[in-house]
Amino acid sequence: MTLPERLAAYHAADGAEEYLDEYTKLHRKISDKRERKLLDRYFERIGSVSTALDLPCGWGRYMPMLRAQGAEVIEADYSGSMVAKVVDVFPNTPLLGRMRCFGHKIPLHDQAMDVVFSMRLNHHLVDPVVRREHVEELFRVSSRFVIFSYFDSASLKNVIRKARTKMGLSKKRPKNTLRRTQVQALAKEAGFKILEDPMLFVVGSGHRLVLAERI
Ligand SMILES: C[S@@+](CC[C@H](N)C(=O)[O-])C[C@H]1O[C@@H](n2cnc3c(N)ncnc32)[C@H](O)[C@@H]1O
Repeated sequence: MTLPERLAAYHAADGAEEYLDEYTKLHRKISDKRERKLLDRYFERIGSVSTALDLPCGWGRYMPMLRAQGAEVIEADYSGSMVAKVVDVFPNTPLLGRMRCFGHKIPLHDQAMDVVFSMRLNHHLVDPVVRREHVEELFRVSSRFVIFSYFDSASLKNVIRKARTKMGLSKKRPKNTLRRTQVQALAKEAGFKILEDPMLFVVGSGHRLVLAERI
């Protein structure tokens, strides 16, 4: 689960506004640009989409991109203020639905959505069991494609963080990571093939962006 104080901050009335403000910062703009470049490539491969689940949606950063593929979109997030914010930021935009739920307990039936999209959640999940359950849920609910990010345990950023902590040079919490082989195994078990999973940045970030297809 996400740290309770973090979850509460996202859910608070000003939580969505603060997250929206984040995207005025340079480092966010840079990562946003890189993510969009990769996602454009993924959506070119996928082609048209009938339905998409965007979980966690945040303030709806990627909802227009999903709709541009022709998808009817469900915007979902644990945070009520995020789910509400989507409508403020994108008024008069038809949505298939909005809901509050956890990323590792999705209240939809198996293969309910054409594409399941989960950007920047897994690394918030502190418990390794919940991190695994999150990925399992994404695969369970998708009938065709899954796109999600996770923090790679073998990334330079995580290796350095662990070494610094071991040497007593840092008191920062360990990163919430997954092993790439573990993600590959989870995809295989669920009947998916990973088509692409590049790092967002080799230096300075440990996130991988996965595109997986049901086979
Ligand atoms: C870093 S933001 C990412 C939002 C969006 N995907 C984006 O990339 O702009 C993380 C989001 O996850 C939501 N969140 C945190 N823990 C969650 C959980 N366990 N289940 C569902 N949503 C969660 C927060 O409310 C927040 O909107």
